[in-house]
Amino acid sequence: MSGTGAGASGTLPRPTNAREMLRMAQEFLERKGIEEAQFEAGLLVGHALGLDRLQLYCELERPINGAELDRARDLLVRRGRHEPTAYVTGKREFYGRDFVVRTGVLIPRPETELLVDRTRELAGERSGEVSVADLGTGSGCLAVTLALELEEARVWGTDVSADAVELARENAQRLEAEVDFRVADGIEGLRAIVRERGAPLDLIVCNPPYIEPSEADSLAPEVREYEPEVALFAPGGDPDHWVLALLDAGQELLVDDGSLLVELGHRQGERVIAQASERGWSARLHTDLSGVERVFEAQRA
Ligand SMILES: C[S@@+](CC[C@H](N)C(=O)[O-])C[C@H]1O[C@@H](n2cnc3c(N)ncnc32)[C@H](O)[C@@H]1O
Repeated sequence: MSGTGAGASGTLPRPTNAREMLRMAQEFLERKGIEEAQFEAGLLVGHALGLDRLQLYCELERPINGAELDRARDLLVRRGRHEPTAYVTGKREFYGRDFVVRTGVLIPRPETELLVDRTRELAGERSGEVSVADLGTGSGCLAVTLALELEEARVWGTDVSADAVELARENAQRLEAEVDFRVADGIEGLRAIVRERGAPLDLIVCNPPYIEPSEADSLAPEVREYEPEVALFAPGGDPDHWVLALLDAGQELLVDDGSLLVELGHRQGERVIAQASERGWSARLHTDLSGVERVFEAQRA
Protein backbone atom coordinates (compact mmCIF):
# COMPACT_ATOMS: atom_id res chain seq x y z
CA MET A 1 0.00 0.00 0.00
CA SER A 2 2.17 2.84 -1.20
CA GLY A 3 1.49 6.24 0.33
CA THR A 4 0.66 4.64 3.67
CA GLY A 5 4.31 3.77 4.07
CA ALA A 6 3.14 0.24 4.75
CA GLY A 7 6.01 -1.57 3.06
CA ALA A 8 9.75 -1.30 2.72
CA SER A 9 11.18 1.48 0.58
CA GLY A 10 11.41 0.82 -3.16
CA THR A 11 8.69 -1.29 -4.71
CA LEU A 12 5.87 -1.56 -2.23
CA PRO A 13 3.78 -4.68 -1.98
CA ARG A 14 0.25 -4.29 -3.20
CA PRO A 15 -2.37 -6.26 -1.27
CA THR A 16 -4.20 -8.70 -3.49
CA ASN A 17 -6.98 -9.57 -1.10
CA ALA A 18 -8.79 -8.19 1.95
CA ARG A 19 -6.72 -10.29 4.36
CA GLU A 20 -3.45 -8.76 3.14
CA MET A 21 -4.92 -5.30 3.09
CA LEU A 22 -6.12 -5.73 6.66
CA ARG A 23 -2.72 -6.89 7.87
CA MET A 24 -0.91 -4.01 6.16
CA ALA A 25 -3.44 -1.51 7.45
CA GLN A 26 -2.99 -2.76 11.01
CA GLU A 27 0.81 -2.54 10.76
CA PHE A 28 0.55 0.97 9.35
CA LEU A 29 -1.78 2.18 12.12
CA GLU A 30 0.43 0.59 14.79
CA ARG A 31 3.42 2.47 13.42
CA LYS A 32 1.42 5.70 13.62
CA GLY A 33 0.67 5.07 17.30
CA ILE A 34 -3.05 4.46 16.83
CA GLU A 35 -4.53 2.52 19.74
CA GLU A 36 -6.58 -0.59 19.00
CA ALA A 37 -4.99 -0.72 15.55
CA GLN A 38 -6.47 -4.11 14.70
CA PHE A 39 -10.01 -2.94 15.42
CA GLU A 40 -9.50 0.36 13.59
CA ALA A 41 -7.92 -1.38 10.57
CA GLY A 42 -10.98 -3.62 10.29
CA LEU A 43 -13.31 -0.65 10.50
CA LEU A 44 -11.47 1.45 7.91
CA VAL A 45 -10.68 -1.34 5.44
CA GLY A 46 -14.29 -2.49 5.76
CA HIS A 47 -15.48 1.07 5.11
CA ALA A 48 -13.29 1.28 1.99
CA LEU A 49 -14.80 -1.97 0.70
CA GLY A 50 -18.36 -1.05 1.67
CA LEU A 51 -18.49 -3.77 4.35
CA ASP A 52 -18.92 -3.71 8.11
CA ARG A 53 -16.23 -5.37 10.25
CA LEU A 54 -18.12 -8.65 10.53
CA GLN A 55 -18.74 -8.88 6.77
CA LEU A 56 -15.08 -8.09 6.16
CA TYR A 57 -13.95 -11.00 8.34
CA CYS A 58 -16.26 -13.29 6.36
CA GLU A 59 -14.75 -12.13 3.05
CA LEU A 60 -11.03 -12.12 3.75
CA GLU A 61 -10.13 -13.78 0.45
CA ARG A 62 -12.05 -11.13 -1.52
CA PRO A 63 -9.81 -9.57 -4.23
CA ILE A 64 -9.05 -5.84 -4.04
CA ASN A 65 -9.36 -3.54 -7.05
CA GLY A 66 -7.47 -0.30 -7.67
CA ALA A 67 -10.32 2.02 -6.63
CA GLU A 68 -10.76 0.15 -3.32
CA LEU A 69 -7.04 0.33 -2.69
CA ASP A 70 -7.05 4.12 -3.28
CA ARG A 71 -10.05 4.54 -0.99
CA ALA A 72 -8.47 2.50 1.80
CA ARG A 73 -5.20 4.37 1.42
CA ASP A 74 -6.94 7.75 1.80
CA LEU A 75 -8.81 6.64 4.90
CA LEU A 76 -5.70 5.14 6.51
CA VAL A 77 -3.53 8.16 5.80
CA ARG A 78 -6.14 10.43 7.44
CA ARG A 79 -6.44 8.13 10.47
CA GLY A 80 -2.65 7.86 10.63
CA ARG A 81 -2.62 11.64 11.14
CA HIS A 82 -4.86 11.04 14.16
CA GLU A 83 -7.99 12.39 12.53
CA PRO A 84 -10.87 10.80 14.52
CA THR A 85 -12.31 7.65 12.97
CA ALA A 86 -15.81 9.16 13.00
CA TYR A 87 -14.66 12.07 10.80
CA VAL A 88 -12.80 9.69 8.51
CA THR A 89 -15.81 7.41 8.02
CA GLY A 90 -18.32 10.27 8.32
CA LYS A 91 -20.54 8.57 10.87
CA ARG A 92 -20.89 7.64 14.55
CA GLU A 93 -23.48 5.54 16.30
CA PHE A 94 -25.49 7.16 19.09
CA TYR A 95 -28.30 5.42 20.97
CA GLY A 96 -28.45 2.70 18.30
CA ARG A 97 -28.65 5.02 15.28
CA ASP A 98 -25.98 6.20 12.84
CA PHE A 99 -25.42 9.96 12.86
CA VAL A 100 -23.55 11.73 10.08
CA VAL A 101 -20.57 13.62 11.51
CA ARG A 102 -17.97 15.90 9.96
CA THR A 103 -15.24 18.33 10.87
CA GLY A 104 -16.52 21.43 12.63
CA VAL A 105 -19.08 19.59 14.75
CA LEU A 106 -18.49 17.54 17.92
CA ILE A 107 -18.61 13.74 17.57
CA PRO A 108 -21.36 12.27 19.79
CA ARG A 109 -19.95 10.45 22.85
CA PRO A 110 -21.34 7.24 24.40
CA GLU A 111 -21.50 8.81 27.89
CA THR A 112 -24.05 11.35 26.59
CA GLU A 113 -26.53 8.48 26.18
CA LEU A 114 -27.10 8.72 29.96
CA LEU A 115 -28.67 12.14 29.39
CA VAL A 116 -31.13 10.51 26.98
CA ASP A 117 -31.94 7.73 29.48
CA ARG A 118 -32.73 10.17 32.28
CA THR A 119 -34.70 12.52 30.00
CA ARG A 120 -36.81 9.59 28.82
CA GLU A 121 -37.58 8.66 32.44
CA LEU A 122 -38.61 12.20 33.33
CA ALA A 123 -40.69 12.60 30.16
CA GLY A 124 -42.42 9.29 30.96
CA GLU A 125 -43.62 10.74 34.27
CA ARG A 126 -45.45 13.56 32.47
CA SER A 127 -48.76 13.35 30.67
CA GLY A 128 -49.60 14.72 27.23
CA GLU A 129 -47.12 16.33 24.89
CA VAL A 130 -43.72 17.03 26.43
CA SER A 131 -41.75 20.09 25.30
CA VAL A 132 -37.96 19.66 25.25
CA ALA A 133 -35.20 22.03 24.19
CA ASP A 134 -31.58 20.96 23.62
CA LEU A 135 -29.08 23.78 24.07
CA GLY A 136 -25.82 23.28 22.14
CA THR A 137 -27.27 20.58 19.90
CA GLY A 138 -24.12 19.89 17.81
CA SER A 139 -24.85 16.94 15.47
CA GLY A 140 -28.39 16.90 16.85
CA CYS A 141 -27.75 13.53 18.52
CA LEU A 142 -29.70 14.41 21.68
CA ALA A 143 -32.57 16.31 20.06
CA VAL A 144 -33.07 13.78 17.25
CA THR A 145 -32.87 10.81 19.62
CA LEU A 146 -35.36 12.37 22.02
CA ALA A 147 -37.76 13.24 19.19
CA LEU A 148 -37.65 9.58 18.12
CA GLU A 149 -37.68 7.97 21.56
CA LEU A 150 -40.31 10.05 23.38
CA GLU A 151 -43.91 9.05 22.80
CA GLU A 152 -45.33 12.51 22.34
CA ALA A 153 -42.86 15.35 22.24
CA ARG A 154 -42.13 18.69 20.69
CA VAL A 155 -38.37 19.14 20.41
CA TRP A 156 -36.14 22.13 19.67
CA GLY A 157 -32.38 22.21 19.21
CA THR A 158 -30.21 25.33 19.27
CA ASP A 159 -26.55 25.96 18.56
CA VAL A 160 -24.38 29.02 18.07
CA SER A 161 -22.62 27.16 15.24
CA ALA A 162 -24.34 27.32 11.84
CA ASP A 163 -22.34 24.24 10.75
CA ALA A 164 -23.76 22.30 13.68
CA VAL A 165 -27.35 23.31 12.93
CA GLU A 166 -26.92 22.39 9.27
CA LEU A 167 -25.63 18.94 10.25
CA ALA A 168 -28.33 18.48 12.91
CA ARG A 169 -31.01 19.22 10.30
CA GLU A 170 -29.40 16.71 7.96
CA ASN A 171 -29.43 14.03 10.68
CA ALA A 172 -33.05 14.77 11.58
CA GLN A 173 -34.06 14.46 7.95
CA ARG A 174 -32.17 11.20 7.43
CA LEU A 175 -33.55 9.65 10.60
CA GLU A 176 -37.03 11.09 10.04
CA ALA A 177 -37.18 13.01 13.30
CA GLU A 178 -39.18 16.17 13.71
CA VAL A 179 -37.05 18.79 15.44
CA ASP A 180 -37.07 22.59 15.18
CA PHE A 181 -33.37 23.51 14.90
CA ARG A 182 -32.11 27.08 15.05
CA VAL A 183 -28.86 28.97 15.11
CA ALA A 184 -28.98 30.88 18.39
CA ASP A 185 -26.67 32.05 21.15
CA GLY A 186 -27.03 30.46 24.58
CA ILE A 187 -29.94 31.29 26.89
CA GLU A 188 -31.30 33.87 24.43
CA GLY A 189 -32.12 31.05 22.00
CA LEU A 190 -34.20 29.31 24.68
CA ARG A 191 -35.95 32.56 25.60
CA ALA A 192 -36.96 32.99 21.95
CA ILE A 193 -38.53 29.51 21.91
CA VAL A 194 -40.49 30.21 25.10
CA ARG A 195 -41.63 33.61 23.72
CA GLU A 196 -42.74 32.11 20.40
CA ARG A 197 -44.74 29.25 21.88
CA GLY A 198 -46.12 31.50 24.64
CA ALA A 199 -45.33 28.94 27.34
CA PRO A 200 -42.31 27.67 29.25
CA LEU A 201 -40.71 24.29 28.52
CA ASP A 202 -41.10 20.98 30.36
CA LEU A 203 -37.48 19.88 29.96
CA ILE A 204 -34.20 21.49 28.99
CA VAL A 205 -31.24 19.27 28.13
CA CYS A 206 -27.71 20.43 27.49
CA ASN A 207 -24.31 18.89 26.90
CA PRO A 208 -22.27 22.09 27.09
CA PRO A 209 -18.58 22.72 26.49
CA TYR A 210 -17.05 22.08 29.92
CA ILE A 211 -13.32 21.49 29.43
CA GLU A 212 -10.97 23.93 31.15
CA PRO A 213 -8.32 25.46 28.85
CA SER A 214 -5.64 24.19 31.25
CA GLU A 215 -6.73 20.64 30.35
CA ALA A 216 -6.10 21.18 26.61
CA ASP A 217 -2.64 19.59 26.65
CA SER A 218 -3.96 16.41 28.21
CA LEU A 219 -6.55 15.88 25.48
CA ALA A 220 -5.90 13.23 22.82
CA PRO A 221 -4.65 14.72 19.53
CA GLU A 222 -7.85 13.40 17.93
CA VAL A 223 -9.83 15.82 20.14
CA ARG A 224 -7.40 18.71 20.52
CA GLU A 225 -6.47 19.03 16.87
CA TYR A 226 -9.71 18.08 15.15
CA GLU A 227 -12.81 18.88 17.22
CA PRO A 228 -14.13 22.46 17.35
CA GLU A 229 -12.97 24.60 20.28
CA VAL A 230 -16.44 26.11 20.71
CA ALA A 231 -17.76 22.63 21.46
CA LEU A 232 -14.99 21.70 23.89
CA PHE A 233 -13.86 24.60 26.02
CA ALA A 234 -15.90 26.19 28.78
CA PRO A 235 -16.57 29.92 28.35
CA GLY A 236 -14.25 32.01 30.52
CA GLY A 237 -12.49 28.80 31.54
CA ASP A 238 -15.37 28.04 33.95
CA PRO A 239 -16.66 24.45 33.51
CA ASP A 240 -19.80 25.33 35.51
CA HIS A 241 -20.69 28.28 33.26
CA TRP A 242 -23.67 26.67 31.48
CA VAL A 243 -25.06 24.93 34.56
CA LEU A 244 -25.14 28.26 36.40
CA ALA A 245 -26.56 30.17 33.42
CA LEU A 246 -29.34 27.61 33.07
CA LEU A 247 -30.09 27.62 36.81
CA ASP A 248 -30.26 31.43 36.77
CA ALA A 249 -32.61 31.52 33.77
CA GLY A 250 -34.50 28.33 34.61
CA GLN A 251 -37.40 29.99 36.39
CA GLU A 252 -38.46 31.89 33.26
CA LEU A 253 -37.70 29.01 30.88
CA LEU A 254 -39.26 25.99 32.62
CA VAL A 255 -42.75 25.15 33.86
CA ASP A 256 -42.98 24.93 37.68
CA ASP A 257 -42.33 21.19 37.77
CA GLY A 258 -39.94 21.25 34.80
CA SER A 259 -36.46 19.74 34.86
CA LEU A 260 -33.03 20.79 33.80
CA LEU A 261 -30.56 18.09 32.68
CA VAL A 262 -26.95 18.98 32.01
CA GLU A 263 -23.94 16.77 31.21
CA LEU A 264 -20.96 17.33 33.49
CA GLY A 265 -17.22 16.81 33.19
CA HIS A 266 -15.02 15.36 35.92
CA ARG A 267 -15.18 16.82 39.42
CA GLN A 268 -18.05 19.28 38.82
CA GLY A 269 -20.74 17.41 40.76
CA GLU A 270 -20.29 18.65 44.33
CA ARG A 271 -19.86 22.27 43.23
CA VAL A 272 -22.92 22.46 41.01
CA ILE A 273 -25.12 20.71 43.58
CA ALA A 274 -24.12 23.40 46.13
CA GLN A 275 -24.76 26.18 43.60
CA ALA A 276 -28.18 24.75 42.74
CA SER A 277 -29.20 24.56 46.37
CA GLU A 278 -28.06 28.17 46.99
CA ARG A 279 -30.31 29.21 44.09
CA GLY A 280 -33.36 27.35 45.44
CA TRP A 281 -33.20 24.25 43.24
CA SER A 282 -33.36 20.65 44.32
CA ALA A 283 -30.67 18.78 42.40
CA ARG A 284 -29.11 15.33 42.07
CA LEU A 285 -26.39 13.61 40.08
CA HIS A 286 -26.44 10.50 37.90
CA THR A 287 -23.26 8.44 37.58
CA ASP A 288 -22.17 6.88 34.29
CA LEU A 289 -20.72 3.40 33.75
CA SER A 290 -17.17 4.69 34.39
CA GLY A 291 -18.22 6.01 37.79
CA VAL A 292 -18.20 9.69 36.72
CA GLU A 293 -20.99 11.94 38.05
CA ARG A 294 -22.08 12.66 34.51
CA VAL A 295 -25.60 14.09 34.56
CA PHE A 296 -26.82 16.96 36.70
CA GLU A 297 -30.60 17.08 37.16
CA ALA A 298 -32.47 19.91 38.86
CA GLN A 299 -36.05 20.92 39.65
CA ARG A 300 -37.15 24.04 41.39
CA ALA A 301 -37.50 23.27 45.11
C1 LIG B 1 -20.12 19.49 23.94
S1 LIG B 1 -20.89 20.00 22.44
C2 LIG B 1 -22.38 19.03 22.49
C3 LIG B 1 -22.93 18.70 21.15
C4 LIG B 1 -24.08 17.67 21.19
N1 LIG B 1 -25.17 18.13 22.00
C5 LIG B 1 -23.57 16.35 21.74
O1 LIG B 1 -23.95 15.97 22.85
O2 LIG B 1 -22.80 15.69 21.04
C6 LIG B 1 -21.41 21.62 22.85
C7 LIG B 1 -22.18 22.34 21.78
O3 LIG B 1 -22.53 23.64 22.29
C8 LIG B 1 -22.42 24.58 21.26
N2 LIG B 1 -22.25 25.93 21.85
C9 LIG B 1 -21.14 26.48 22.39
N3 LIG B 1 -21.39 27.73 22.82
C10 LIG B 1 -22.71 27.96 22.57
C11 LIG B 1 -23.56 29.08 22.77
N4 LIG B 1 -23.11 30.22 23.31
N5 LIG B 1 -24.85 28.99 22.39
C12 LIG B 1 -25.32 27.84 21.80
N6 LIG B 1 -24.55 26.75 21.57
C13 LIG B 1 -23.26 26.80 21.97
C14 LIG B 1 -21.23 24.12 20.44
O4 LIG B 1 -21.25 24.65 19.13
C15 LIG B 1 -21.41 22.60 20.49
O5 LIG B 1 -22.14 22.13 19.39
